[in-house]
Amino acid sequence: RVLRWTWRAIYLSAIGGLVYAGYGIWVMRNPMDQVEPDPSKKTLVVLGTGWGSVSLLKNLDTENYNVVVVSPRNYFLFTPLLPSCTTGLIEHRSIMEPIRNFLRHKKAAVKYYEAEATKIDYEKKIVYVNDESEIKGDVSSTEVPFDMLVVGVGAENATFGIPGVREHGLFLKEVGDAQAIRRRIMDCCETATFKDQHEDEIKRLLHMVVVGGGPTGVEFAGELQDFFESDLKKWIPDIKDNFHVTLVEALPNVLPMFSKQLIDYTEKTFKEETITIRTKTMVKKVTAKYIEAESTGPDGKKQLEQIPYGLLVWATGNALRPVVKDLMSQIPAQKDSRRGLAVNEYLVVKGTENIWAVGDCAIANYAPTAQVASQEGAFLARMFNQMAKTQEIESKLAECSEAQEKAPSKEARDRVFQEIKELQKRLRRVKQIGPFEYSHQGSLAYIGSEKAVADITWLTGNLSTGGTLTYFFWRSAYLSMCFSTRNRVLVLMDWCKAKLFGRDVSRE
Ligand code: FAD
Ligand code: NAI
Repeated sequence: RVLRWTWRAIYLSAIGGLVYAGYGIWVMRNPMDQVEPDPSKKTLVVLGTGWGSVSLLKNLDTENYNVVVVSPRNYFLFTPLLPSCTTGLIEHRSIMEPIRNFLRHKKAAVKYYEAEATKIDYEKKIVYVNDESEIKGDVSSTEVPFDMLVVGVGAENATFGIPGVREHGLFLKEVGDAQAIRRRIMDCCETATFKDQHEDEIKRLLHMVVVGGGPTGVEFAGELQDFFESDLKKWIPDIKDNFHVTLVEALPNVLPMFSKQLIDYTEKTFKEETITIRTKTMVKKVTAKYIEAESTGPDGKKQLEQIPYGLLVWATGNALRPVVKDLMSQIPAQKDSRRGLAVNEYLVVKGTENIWAVGDCAIANYAPTAQVASQEGAFLARMFNQMAKTQEIESKLAECSEAQEKAPSKEARDRVFQEIKELQKRLRRVKQIGPFEYSHQGSLAYIGSEKAVADITWLTGNLSTGGTLTYFFWRSAYLSMCFSTRNRVLVLMDWCKAKLFGRDVSRE
């Protein structure tokens, strides 16, 4: 009997789960009507649809403002899984969430313009925007006025002005970059097996060089070696003796933000995976077929060498976007800031009153990571929601004061007085918003051959761990952090598909 009831309970929970999931999907696919924005409310312009801006929009009560979003990318990209797209382990659409879908579910409608902000005029409170897409209408540049502005435009790829990088190197920041890398890997492999190809040329074409030993470079190198081990060498056996991955880093070690123990573990794992790490090697010049690098030997002697390559992935960190540089040049308080918009503890751009900055374009003494950007976005949303409530209470208070003066009797005056006291109490509560405080949850990175490293903040201390178990933790953590259930399902399906059938080695 107990067994029968247990089965019934399981059966009912399964049906309940299915109904719940079905309802969730139905709601997702059938958005409700939205309230039209109220033009009398303040116009809040949000630039960008990355980690910072989307976290702000997710948590913002859009009924309080006229919200306008400007970004050349009409989707949110889950960057932590982007290195997996370069080898086709994950399809890029699985980690993209259309911004339209997400905004359509907000209570009050939000305007979205697919455009790039080219200039922010701080004095006039105007953002100049350009439609940079292929199809342009009669109007492709215009102005967007704002009362409040949030800058969340992220950063560009740093090249430090090294000649040849932009012409010959590939970056890893956007979906298009991952697709270009995937194409180039396959192109190099196919060209290397071209009839009568010379030995030296085969070696060059199959030399995959990654510059920058930060997490982007390390994760990509690991994914690429996995691709070779599990699929490429199986389907294109001709390349198996010459395919080689090299990671070049200017500093004495890779992953400088991780603990010494995990740096050593990563370097040991790379050695086992036969990835070469060239530390203390600074790239100075890039040509179409080789990079020129200066390496420092153990005796401190510097040596210039040429390293031939077929694929070059450039992952040396972030640089300022022109629109951010231009804004900084307009504000005297920003003159000493070099790496981004200096902000105060409430993320207000220093020297301004109505401009806030989040994510990689803001400098608030934290590393430029998704974790920081999304916490900053959520903080701003909370603050803006509170600000709107404050304004509402303040205007009610003004109405009450007027009503108190005009009250016909003592009872009526007392009633209004009580209401004022209540409102003042609420106002004090609402106004209590502390400054932004970042809560570091830890750092995670995939290092190939189903191993990951993690520096996790654990109760009161730190936990440094690396290996296969950490890899499962890495996978489950990132799966749970995906933007939507749809993304989670797609990523899970991609992982299963790759496990069952391998990665696709076709070029496009
Ligand atoms: P972004 O997410 O870059 O978004 C910027 C937005 O602004 C984009 O929508 C862009 O289209 C838009 N934009 C650009 N120019 C303009 C303009 N002129 N006008 C209007 N809009 C504009 N961090 C982690 O914490 N964990 C990780 O595992 C991790 N993995 C990563 C893997 C890779 C491959 C990369 C590249 C980064 C990774 N990061 C990770 C870092 C993380 O992605 C960034 O810190 C984060 O994206 C910063 O968020 P953001 O909102 O500032 O900028
Ligand atoms: P990074 O700034 O972390 O690392 C770039 C590396 O390139 C540095 O170690 C630097 O010494 C090296 N370098 C610079 N110029 C060079 C040259 N000419 N020759 C050789 N090496 C050179 O950049 P990355 O990896 O792109 O990351 C950017 C940000 O995104 C970081 O804040 C990082 O923490 C974050 N991120 C986090 C991830 C994670 O948590 N798993 C994954 C990817 C990025």
